[in-house]
Amino acid sequence: LNFLTPKKRSEIVDILVQGLQRMEYRGYDSAGIAIDGSNEIESPHSSVALLRKAGKVSVLSDFIKESSSDLDMDMEYNIHCGIAHTRWATHGSPRDVNSHPHRSNDKNEFLVVHNGIITNYREIKEYLEKKGHKFESETDTEVIAKLAQHIHDRYPDFSFRQLVETVIQQLEGAFALAFKSSRFPGQLVASRRGSPLLVGIKSNSRLQTNHFPVSFSKGRRFMSNHATHLRDETSFVETPNNILDLSIAVRSSNGSAKMEISDSTTAVRPFDSDDWEVEYFVASDAAAIIEHTKQVLFLEDDDVAFVEDGALTIHRISRHADNGEQKREVKLLEMELQEIMKGSFKTYMQKEIFEQPDSVVNTMRGRVLPSGQVVLGGIKEYLPDIKRCRRLIMVACGTSYHSAIACRQILEELSELPVVVELASDFLDRETPIFRDDVCLFISQSGETADTLLALRYCKPRGALTIGVTNTVGSSICRESHCGIHINAGPEIGVASTKAYTSQILSLLMFALTLSDDRISMAKRREEIIDALNDLPELIREVLQLDEKVLDIAKQIYKEKSLLIMGRGLNFATCLEGALKIKELSYMHCEGIMSGELKHGPLAMVDEFLSICMVVCNDRVYKKSLNALQQVVARKGAPIIIADCTVPEGDLAGMKHILRVPKTVDCVQNILTVIPLQLLSYHIAELNGANVDRPRNLAKSVTVE
Ligand code: G6P
Repeated sequence: LNFLTPKKRSEIVDILVQGLQRMEYRGYDSAGIAIDGSNEIESPHSSVALLRKAGKVSVLSDFIKESSSDLDMDMEYNIHCGIAHTRWATHGSPRDVNSHPHRSNDKNEFLVVHNGIITNYREIKEYLEKKGHKFESETDTEVIAKLAQHIHDRYPDFSFRQLVETVIQQLEGAFALAFKSSRFPGQLVASRRGSPLLVGIKSNSRLQTNHFPVSFSKGRRFMSNHATHLRDETSFVETPNNILDLSIAVRSSNGSAKMEISDSTTAVRPFDSDDWEVEYFVASDAAAIIEHTKQVLFLEDDDVAFVEDGALTIHRISRHADNGEQKREVKLLEMELQEIMKGSFKTYMQKEIFEQPDSVVNTMRGRVLPSGQVVLGGIKEYLPDIKRCRRLIMVACGTSYHSAIACRQILEELSELPVVVELASDFLDRETPIFRDDVCLFISQSGETADTLLALRYCKPRGALTIGVTNTVGSSICRESHCGIHINAGPEIGVASTKAYTSQILSLLMFALTLSDDRISMAKRREEIIDALNDLPELIREVLQLDEKVLDIAKQIYKEKSLLIMGRGLNFATCLEGALKIKELSYMHCEGIMSGELKHGPLAMVDEFLSICMVVCNDRVYKKSLNALQQVVARKGAPIIIADCTVPEGDLAGMKHILRVPKTVDCVQNILTVIPLQLLSYHIAELNGANVDRPRNLAKSVTVE
């Protein structure tokens, strides 16, 4: 920030807290800010005040108000950089000390906010602990602040940007980062890899009217000596071979904006600083900045944005030589805040269904590596024990239980172990025998479901190794299990689970892949699955285009009393989950039926009046699925078909409604087949006027037995 009229500290705090409120829908278990000036009035310029609180942004806001007598809120600044964060925990429970910004030491010398996951944080932490750094949190993020401090102590001449560039070269995983330092007042460095990050530019009118094309050209080599030096010290530091610092040139399209292209490494700077007012807003999401500016520059992976004295420069840390000229453009956002928050969606559930191309990426981020390896940091240490077990047991309720059914077959195939799937309540009722060489997975979006938690408490004292698979870090299941997999789907607000379900399936698939990573005989199968995972976001996007067609079908059946959804093999879970969605949301009777069981009872119900949906995919059980279809048609049934696009037209001749989804590998197909049913349940409920986000009699998290 470089203000024409000085801003009071209280105004700066308001901007930051308001930004957090806009971002709160992405995560809301703790929040924090770091601003110039110490927590005490005495030394406002030499240090940084850090305020962090577990809980919603409102808790932080109250805390700031309570602390305002200790903070000189009237202090005025011409230049100021503040950072802020609202968290959805991925490592470490929601506590004050695990909240961001994280700091390098109790003098708050280097502070960082982070969105994403650092997969090699354990190695870095071990290294830094050996060097005498003391950690205060359980997060992956804290290593970043400590590493910055470590490098600064060794290379005190490094500029803030050089320092951050060195730090991020050591990081693996995914991140959007913003750094602040009491050593470098008025400066801010931000970078990203794999997680979104943008810079909003609010400037005085002369600039606001312009649209800036930004071009990159190759610059000088960057710091390879220092980086090599670090590598010599420890094995964790890897230096990419080809680090280029690419310079950026910014100019306005009509040449009237006052900016200087200073040298090969810097960019936006006013000729006449008295006449310059600019504020930069670095954020993960446009929602945080849209009320300040619509001029936005989207950063790309390995871009480093640096703000100093009101000038923004963008640099590149390129791991591979970038070919040719790179361009960044300052874009003019056309959306309004409301649109960003809920988009064009009427409800959270609808939004969450349509978020799935992104939520699956978040689940896989930093885990499915380009090398073909799958790394699940949360179970890494326990992997040898897990591989030695005699039985895998998955315990869950509701939708989470269906994700276990969806993955049982691939787990059996890749682990070559017996795999048992249990409803938590029934598992407890039976007092099921559990042994020391069992590995038990407890799958729960909330991590708080009482039945699942009690099942965990039942298994643990019996000596089984317990793994939590949850969307909520710091939840009871997370805390009480030996190790875990966070599904990282982001907060799910609609009571009926949608994006968490597909992320649970993905997490269990990745788990199956890690269990088989040393089996040569399975290399080909693994490769085929990993390829499919990489294509998945695009395929989900295609499925979502069926929405209109699904709505038409919903209009024809929403008044029905009953619907049967039939399928088998890897798509049976889709039938169960689809039926649950319809029951939950529209209160219509709906049953998921294993089509192998059709002739043992359900067929008696079939006639021309019964609504039926059948899932038919070109997989190992294709012939059997077709048999079931013929049996239904022979009884005058007229099913709605969900089929992959390779099922021959001829086999589906005469069917009135066919929803075609793209074809993918068999064990990923059920992610694609369930989405039309999510949409169908949504539309049926809407047409019936039901409350989609809060169905009657149900709760998002059932914490009673
Ligand atoms: C409740 C919710 C369901 C959810 C189930 C299990 O019934 O309404 O949507 O699938 O609990 O919840 P969990 O948080 O353990 O996945």
